[in-house]
Amino acid sequence: MAGLDWLSSPTETPLHGRIRVPGDKSISHRAIMLAALAEGCSHISGFLEGEDTRATATIFEQLGVRIEKLAAGERWVHGVGLHGLCAPEDVLDCGNAGTAMRLLTGLLAGQVFDSVLTGDASLLKRPMRRVLEPLRQMSAGFDAREGDLPPLHIHCRSNLNGCRVTPEIASAQVKSAILLAGLYAQGNTEVHELHPTRDYTERMLAAFGWPIEFSPGYARLSGGHVLRATDIVVPADFSSAAFLLVAGSVIPGSNLHLLDVGLNPRRTGLLQALRAMGADIREGPIREQGGERVADLQVRHAPLQGVDIPEAWVADMIDEFPALFVAAALAQGSTRIRGAGELRMKESDRLAVMAAGLRKLGVDIEERPDGARIEGGPIHGGEVDSHADHRCAMAFAVAGQVADDAVLIRDCSNVNTSFPGFVPLMRQAGFNLSLAGAVPG
Ligand code: S3P
Repeated sequence: MAGLDWLSSPTETPLHGRIRVPGDKSISHRAIMLAALAEGCSHISGFLEGEDTRATATIFEQLGVRIEKLAAGERWVHGVGLHGLCAPEDVLDCGNAGTAMRLLTGLLAGQVFDSVLTGDASLLKRPMRRVLEPLRQMSAGFDAREGDLPPLHIHCRSNLNGCRVTPEIASAQVKSAILLAGLYAQGNTEVHELHPTRDYTERMLAAFGWPIEFSPGYARLSGGHVLRATDIVVPADFSSAAFLLVAGSVIPGSNLHLLDVGLNPRRTGLLQALRAMGADIREGPIREQGGERVADLQVRHAPLQGVDIPEAWVADMIDEFPALFVAAALAQGSTRIRGAGELRMKESDRLAVMAAGLRKLGVDIEERPDGARIEGGPIHGGEVDSHADHRCAMAFAVAGQVADDAVLIRDCSNVNTSFPGFVPLMRQAGFNLSLAGAVPG
């Protein structure tokens, strides 16, 4: 599909105000999944009305779950119990959502019916061996395209066995797929991680009453229990707030409040990185909300210095590198990123897409196999291609605000996967951003 283009022009106003970015994508996916498998009716508020998470909700409707939309961001999910899903009549389309496809692969592996998961052109290129291999160890059965690429045909299995695995890649999606299959398995399922990753699945399983032991880098559960309906309040997505944290830091005079931001420690690596660069970001009082840390953040303009990002920080900021690239391009001195080869496996090859785009805007950037070296300096106007990657498009939109001329960004429609309403919300904060070809208002 031909994408929508944006024109991001230098802003003349500092960013200000109180902004609530949309709900957390990772939590919204999981809330639908676990509520669907629970006994009873669960209420979800703050649900992300993005294309990715709505794809997950549609898939559960195809699997026989009644999901009522009460208002934007609010759902009642009428759970059918662990064994209550029905065979779908059609293939299940995850759209652009890697999280949906990988988690559902685990969840559907233990069902008593076959199913087929497909997705858009980007998702059909994303590697699935990382989930299929451990699930095959649990006796799950799949057919995939050559190279274990989707579409995935998941064969019905009523005899999964538990397993003890250390996935080769630190990935919350892989860990979650294994744990969701473990709900249906005989015996214990235990995951050890090379680097701890976000633990939303573990926390939410506990909130739905499933016995689970977990600590950073470790999770263990056994099959044969019951999920009980509960209410989930989804915080604002840190990964969406990230673009405003960078924009507020680099646009002179900015003073912006970001409300209700989820601060799960496995998500907030960018805070650590920006603070190491000299950013002025403060946290309001921490609230505990459904087992998650939530707070308002205040970001004020501050000069940034380049930084070395150690490999140990990568997993905690895995989705924030497009935003970090822009901060680094505007910092004084060099920023070096290592151990981030996983960025090549995201919705696009983010190392290549960000390096190519920033280079077109005059940034001195060297792309490396597992990272990059970025020299800070001025950003010029020009034309860049987001390659239909939502986070690259939003990062380039930030760059345009501080460039010396307008930046035309190609192929931005996928921003609706994670951040519906990005353009009007950013304009409200002070961005000079419009749809390309639209008369600036
Ligand atoms: C996610 C995990 C991460 C992240 C993705 C969401 C999740 O992917 O990049 O946006 O919700 O579990 P990986 O598990 O591939 O690192």
